[in-house]
Amino acid sequence: MSQFKRSLITAALPYANGPVHIGHLAGVYLPADIYARYKRLKGDEILFVCGSDEHGVPVTIRAKKEGISVQEAVDKYHALIRDSFEGFGISFDVYSRTSAPIHHKTASDFFQKMDEKGDFLIQSSEQYFDPEAGQFLADRYIQGTCPKCGFENAYGDQCESCGTTLSPAELLMPRSMLSGSAPVMKETKHWYLPLDRYEAWLREWILEGHKEWKPNVYGQCKSWIEQGLQPRAVTRDLDWGVPVPSANAEGKVLYVWFDAPIGYISATREWAETKGTGWEKWWKDPETRLLHFIGKDNIVFHCIIFPVMLKAHGDFILPDNVPANEFLNLEGQKISTSRNWAVWLHEYLNDMPGRQDALRYALAASAPETKDNDFTWKEFQARYNNELADIAGNFVNRALVLTQKYFDGKVPARGPFTETDQELIAVLEAAPGLVSENLENFRLRQALAEMMQVARAGNKYLAETEPWKLYKTDPERVGTILNLGLQASALLALLMEPFLPFSAEKLRQMLPPFHTQWPQNKFEFLEAESKIGTPEILFAKISDEEIQVQMDRLEQTKSQNVIETPPAIPAIKADVAFPDFEKMDIRVATILEAESVPKTKKLLKLLLDTGVDRRTVVSGIAEFHSPENIVGQQVLLLANLAPREIKGIMSQGMILMAKNPAGELAFASPANWVAPGSSVA
Ligand code: MF3
Ligand code: ZN
Repeated sequence: MSQFKRSLITAALPYANGPVHIGHLAGVYLPADIYARYKRLKGDEILFVCGSDEHGVPVTIRAKKEGISVQEAVDKYHALIRDSFEGFGISFDVYSRTSAPIHHKTASDFFQKMDEKGDFLIQSSEQYFDPEAGQFLADRYIQGTCPKCGFENAYGDQCESCGTTLSPAELLMPRSMLSGSAPVMKETKHWYLPLDRYEAWLREWILEGHKEWKPNVYGQCKSWIEQGLQPRAVTRDLDWGVPVPSANAEGKVLYVWFDAPIGYISATREWAETKGTGWEKWWKDPETRLLHFIGKDNIVFHCIIFPVMLKAHGDFILPDNVPANEFLNLEGQKISTSRNWAVWLHEYLNDMPGRQDALRYALAASAPETKDNDFTWKEFQARYNNELADIAGNFVNRALVLTQKYFDGKVPARGPFTETDQELIAVLEAAPGLVSENLENFRLRQALAEMMQVARAGNKYLAETEPWKLYKTDPERVGTILNLGLQASALLALLMEPFLPFSAEKLRQMLPPFHTQWPQNKFEFLEAESKIGTPEILFAKISDEEIQVQMDRLEQTKSQNVIETPPAIPAIKADVAFPDFEKMDIRVATILEAESVPKTKKLLKLLLDTGVDRRTVVSGIAEFHSPENIVGQQVLLLANLAPREIKGIMSQGMILMAKNPAGELAFASPANWVAPGSSVA
């Protein structure tokens, strides 16, 4: 028996600094929606909340770029995002926003209570200040030269040329992006959440108490906790956000990651107000199960920081599970807003009206549950046409059309069952439990596959029983077959609803009315003699032309990226004297063995033949080269680089790679085969 009476389902609040794309849908909103719809069908008490995350620095930069006020920018993107979700049938009970007064009040009160209890550390530090603009500068508002690669337009938090994470103080020749002037260091005071004080509690609560969390989530939490937690500033010097509710906090707002998750509470309150009901049971009753659907970049905030806030505050329940997903790539490349490498939801809705379920199907079928996954238009088309149209669509269409033809559109009565019937019935009876079991455990790909088993079994059943050949000789038998076929179609309409709500509704319209509860091992939905609707094609195929339009769009993006935003090429470094260059011993070597270094994403352990010896080198190329493809590859090796230990492995030397401005790595190798040990100069 579950200890819970109801579920509060949250989906990460998307930043209102741009539209949402398929990656967002696949990783967060679709899984959350499928789960929420399923729970509603089961008759469970749930509330599904979301809203726009409208604070933070990026949205202020976005507004500046577009030459509009920040409020105008968030208004614009909030509306676009809200409509995109609605277009895809994401069934939020409420879609709120963090610039709403109720959120400001909720977040402000939350902070104030913690502040009064002494839950924060208040500390002063020196930060960059723009004397001309009279403002402290967010990291993103400072540019300068990267100390690592010399790129001149690196940001205060990261160099986009070499990818290094930076702090503003590390930038050479810093300048303010507000005024262009050189910023000065100035003392400022901030509120810190002392995460370190909660380490023991987090260990107990997560590492002992939530071993059932998905391995990717549990693993990330474990590594955060084990690296040791530091106090985190939860206020910022900024003029956009929730003002810090304290004396002497002028010009300060709550850090966006402090106020945003409180947005879940605000959204709940907004919903309750419009319904004229209470909100508190959703957040304060331990019989409420709090579930956060998020992407993997949000894990630390939802599993560590927000729970610490909730715990410190003291009035609220904690999340019971945080089913975070990995990322979705697009045609083999990382989705990128700045490079416009994405399928934008509002554009899809525009380009392919009525095709929401096609995307929902493709994304659910390859949801990035346990690892990053790739979306390609060709696979999208193939899955839809070969699975939904050819199997599910074909099956229900035949059942309906034959009923129309032989039984005047009335569900026929059925007679005794044959073995073939029993086989189908067994599949029908098992299906709801299988779909359920997988959904309860957040395995929606498998759940979807179990739903499709019903369609497959139905399709096979009609192919085997061939009712169209029997009608003349045995109409009664045909009645039984079609009755079962229609019952299976009804079951399908129910099981489909969480995944493909538009098609489920369409299918329902073609069948006699029946209940909307999650099926319980029953396959008698339709009464004999009840009238079916007009059979229509449930899943009209997607043509090559439709797909070509989308592929062309991406191709165009590719060429625009080349023309309009030439990648930044770092400046040439300072001169070195020839004798210094001569000190480097660069050799041709051959890769003999390659394997990935456990628990790392970037590292490969290589065994090299240098002509002189065999040695191990650890190389950060795993994102671009898989071990099995590089054995035999000739490489250039900086052979006399002092050995160093990387992840416990002694690395003797460094492989030279060509790195483009996007940070992608290609081997620098001799143009034709030369003996290992040959030197390079
Ligand atoms: N806006 C964040 C993002 O898109 C998510 C915020 S989730 C919340 O990554 F919990 F803070 F609301
Ligand atoms: Zn750099």
